[in-house]
Parts: sequence; structure tokens; C-alpha cells
Amino acid sequence: MCGIIGVVGSSDTLETLLEGLARLEYRGYDSAGVALVRPGETWRARTAEGTESVKALREECDLAPLGFSSGIGHTRWATHGGPETMNAHPHLDCSGNIAIIHNGIIENHADLQEQLEARGHVFSSVTDSEVLAHLIEESRANGFELIEAVRRSLLVVRGAFAVAAMDATEPDVIVAARRISPLIVGTAPGVTYLASDIPAILDRATAFYAVSDDEIVRLAPEGFRAIDLEGVPVHLHPLAVDWDLETAEKGGHDDFMTKEINEQPDAIRTTLLDRRRRDGTITFDELRVSDEELRDVRRVVIVAAGTSHHAGLVAKYAIERWARVSVEVDIASEYRYRDPIVEIGTLVIGISQSGETIDTIQAIREAKRRGARVIAVTNIVDSSLARESDAVIYTRAGLEVSVASTKVFLAQVAALELLALRLAQLRDTVPASDVDAHFLGLNAVAEQVATVLTRRSSVEDVAKQLLGARDFFFLGRHVGFPTALEGALKLKELSYLHAEGYPAGELKHGPLALIEPGVVVVAVVTDPAMHEKMLSNLAEVKARGATVVAVATDDDESIAAIADYVLRVPATEPMFSPMVDVVPLQLFAYAMARGLGRNIDRPRNLAKTVTVE
Ligand code: AGP
Repeated sequence: MCGIIGVVGSSDTLETLLEGLARLEYRGYDSAGVALVRPGETWRARTAEGTESVKALREECDLAPLGFSSGIGHTRWATHGGPETMNAHPHLDCSGNIAIIHNGIIENHADLQEQLEARGHVFSSVTDSEVLAHLIEESRANGFELIEAVRRSLLVVRGAFAVAAMDATEPDVIVAARRISPLIVGTAPGVTYLASDIPAILDRATAFYAVSDDEIVRLAPEGFRAIDLEGVPVHLHPLAVDWDLETAEKGGHDDFMTKEINEQPDAIRTTLLDRRRRDGTITFDELRVSDEELRDVRRVVIVAAGTSHHAGLVAKYAIERWARVSVEVDIASEYRYRDPIVEIGTLVIGISQSGETIDTIQAIREAKRRGARVIAVTNIVDSSLARESDAVIYTRAGLEVSVASTKVFLAQVAALELLALRLAQLRDTVPASDVDAHFLGLNAVAEQVATVLTRRSSVEDVAKQLLGARDFFFLGRHVGFPTALEGALKLKELSYLHAEGYPAGELKHGPLALIEPGVVVVAVVTDPAMHEKMLSNLAEVKARGATVVAVATDDDESIAAIADYVLRVPATEPMFSPMVDVVPLQLFAYAMARGLGRNIDRPRNLAKTVTVE
């Protein structure tokens, strides 16, 4: 998730860009850059100093010539190509006149780059975004004005983008466009702005507009006009904005957790983007492990902590079911002390949102010391875990600020289930047609999650009824069990209430003794194969006075007879259900914590990243 900003008609262009980039800081980045454009001249500065990049960029810009009234700026969260200066945006075309900035992923960048290089274009980065500069260059060379050149370029692009382009031969114009990645336009008298989101231009623009998917906007000092990808004029949707800066950084929400819960559909979409070739092969560009090595894997060991451990538990079911490889999931802080067995063909997967959790890093160090190949699954490019592993798969959920992990859990499950399908392809353990069907099902999950998000108020109503409860059990079977663990963890860390996740079949082996009136049992009953057994578990707890909350599918007609409250979700393939079923549990934990007056983004005693053992 990168940050973009642009301005035309400004009397303090550079300050506008630098201040705006600093305002996008909470989106996370590892490099930054600006381009200033005036008739016949494009001036660019870029830095790659991690989170100090914007500060370093300001120093770079001390050398900037004066007198530019237009420019664009970018903070980069690397997804393709490391966080080096050469990969920082803006990217230029061959002439050096055209500058572009991009937030998103160009899925077909490799094919496009090959075609462009064959026509003589010279690339200077290893990013997917640079293809846009050269595509626009070609259309401009054919005599099209900038907005038409951008439109024609985007017709051949697949993927997600919020892109902005300038050309020194068409000064005082920026053309921007959006698909999936956010983009807004702002206006003030004689000045027009664009940005990834409102904080970047909150105190400069006086009116704000949302750009919708596949809309292209031409910005000039006197204002803007918009068209769709077919060239038909469209009107941008005005936004009523009366936020202060802190609220703006939360996307207008009360807290980062709400913002991040609402970003979950896009977190899944961007994690899955660009990961399946036209021939159906599942591919991870960034994964530096050969197909042969993956094919020869004999055992998988997953090490992680907290929510990442729960994603690992889901991965166990998927890898064993589809790839027929045995998987062991270990708590990272336990792994290194149990004299673990690592044989030839052992693959260790370290899962960590931050990539800095010391328990997980120490666990993969131990695994490497014993000769294992290690893959990191992490959300932070070039994090310690990524650097110390042999290979990496990035979840592309964007920066997650709230201590309670939400959107990254869904992105981790999506990435790990994709890896399970890749292993199945390599080991030929699932027919190609079934892999395709699973991939399509995985891509449908984003919409199913979006549907659940529209039901927030019904979850809040249930939480209001249960605010007095003090003891919670979360139950599930198969992948419903890690979902139950994750729901219990969310409730614990947000509301400080005692909650335990349990395999439903385990209840009668002890915990049933704890069930009495006042205890709340939250059960995941969405899997048809487990439904009957789950209902009998609920009958057991109901008979002992428990209050029952069930996560059930929309078409479940029997659950209402036994559950006191039902949280409805769309039916999905059982293996994908953790990504859908966890959402009402996240919303429930949030509502309980709000009802109890807890600090949502910064729960007591906890840190977003645990760097001490
Ligand atoms: C989850 O909501 C918690 N913040 C915590 O359990 C977290 O998942 C755990 O500390 C692991 O963090 P990591 O994914 O960054 O390694």
C-alpha cells in the first residue's frame, strides 16, 4: 500500500507534496520521491531511507529549482522490487518528460515490459509500475493528449492502480486514474489536488471528491474533468469532509481497527493479485524457492505466534488436504526449546505480520541451524524475518496499525491456501480443474467478507445483550477450530474478558464442567460436514444453562432453534470459511470492547510487535 499525492496550480508545490507525503506516513513506506514539472522540464528526487525517507527527501529537495507550480509525490511500500532508490517512484519514460506514480499491482507487467523492451524502451527499475510510464510515452508519441494517452494505456493493464501522470510537454496538467487502490481529488481556488486519501490534502483543499474504479481525471489549476475507460464523461462523487487530521488518518473511522476491518476485502484482493498465470499456474514472484524444492518437500513445520499461529493452523488443513504433505504447527516460542527434528525435505514456514516477532525469528534461526529450508510469510517487505529466511511470500494487506490483527489474518490465510494449491499443483495431488475451482472460490471470498461487513449492526446488538458476561468459550471443528481460537484471542486482547478457544469435540473431556448459566458459548457452525456434531455440542451446553451465539450460514434453518443469537454469514467453501467466519467474531470483540470503554487500538499491556522474548 503506497501513498500518492499531486497538485497543479500551486504557489508552494514542493511544500504541498512533502507535507502531504508526511501525512501519508501512517500508511507505511520504505522509500519516497517527488517530480516537479513545468514547460519542457521534469525535475525528480527520490530516497530509500526506510521510514526516514520523507525526511531525507526534504533534504534532497533543498537542491530543487524554484518556479514549479505542478508536481507529484509518492511513498512506496514495496511489493515488486526491493526498497532501493532505483525502484522508488516517480518513474520516468525514456524521454524523461513523463513522470508517473502508482499505488497498486500491475498483474501483467512482465508481458507488457517484454513488449515495450522489444519496441526499444529502456527500463531503469525492477518494479511493475514503470511499464505505465512507457505505455503513456508511446501514446503521447502517437499524438494523443495526456488524458487519452493514459486511457489507452490502462486499457491494456490488468491489476490494481491509483496512478498519476505528468508530461513536461503538456504542463500544468496531471492525469490520474483508479482501480481498487484508493484515490481522491481536492480543489481550492486556482489549485487542484489528488491523493490516496484525505489526510494528505486535508488542510489545503476545500472540496473533496471520490474517484471510482476505472475513472480517469484530468486535473488543471482551474479544476478537473473525468471520463470512464471508454472515454465517456463522468461526474465524481463529492465527499462531505469535516474531519480533523487524526480522524482523517483513520479514514473517517473512530479507530484504526475499524478502518482495517473494512479494508479486509481489498487485503484479500491485493494478496491474490498477480498470482495466477493465464495457464492456471499459481505463482509467487517473490518466492525464491525452486519448483523442484517445493515438489520434494516431505514435511512442513509452521512456526508463528498469536493470530499468525491461527493462520498457520488453517494452513495445516489446506496443505494436508490438497498437497497431501504432513504439517506440524508449533508455537514459535516453544519450537526452539524442544530440540526439534529437522530431516531432509523439511520445509519450515515462519508466519509473522510484522516480520519482527522475536519468538518467530528465533524459531526459524533454530530451524535453519538444523538444516531446514525456511519460507517467511510476512506483511513487511525486507523485515528481519524476510531477510533471515531463504524465501518470502508477502501478504499485501498494507500497514496494519491496530494492535489487534484483523486484515492481515485474512491475507495470511489467503496466501497460505494459495501456497497449498501451488504445492498440490507441483505434486499433482489435485486435478487442475479442481485447483482452478478452488482459486475461483478463493477470489470470491473478498465479496463474501464485504457482505458480512454490512451486517455490523446486528453483531453490535448481540454484544449489547452480552456486555455483562464474564466467561466465554469459542468452539469450532476442523478449520472452525482455528477460527474459534482467533475469535477468542480478539475478545481477550480487546475487552480483557476471559475467553477460550476449544475444539468442540474436546468439551466433554473436561471444560464442560465449567459450563453453567452466565457462560457464553460462541460456536462456528458453518461447515455442513460438521454441522450435526456442532448442534449436538450446542445442545450439551444449552442443557447446562449456557448462552449460545452461533456463526451460521444464511441458509441454515435449524440453528435458530438452539442458538440464542445467530451471526449470519454467506456460505463459502469450508476451507475458506475462516476468512469469512472470523469477521463477525472481530466485530463482536470490537463491540464488546467499545461497550466496556476499552482503548481499541492500544489495548493495555500489549504491543503491536513483540520484539522481546
Ligand atoms: C493479534 O491480534 C496480536 N496482536 C498478536 O497475537 C500477534 O498476532 C502476535 O504478536 C504475532 O505478531 P506477528 O504476526 O507480527 O508475528
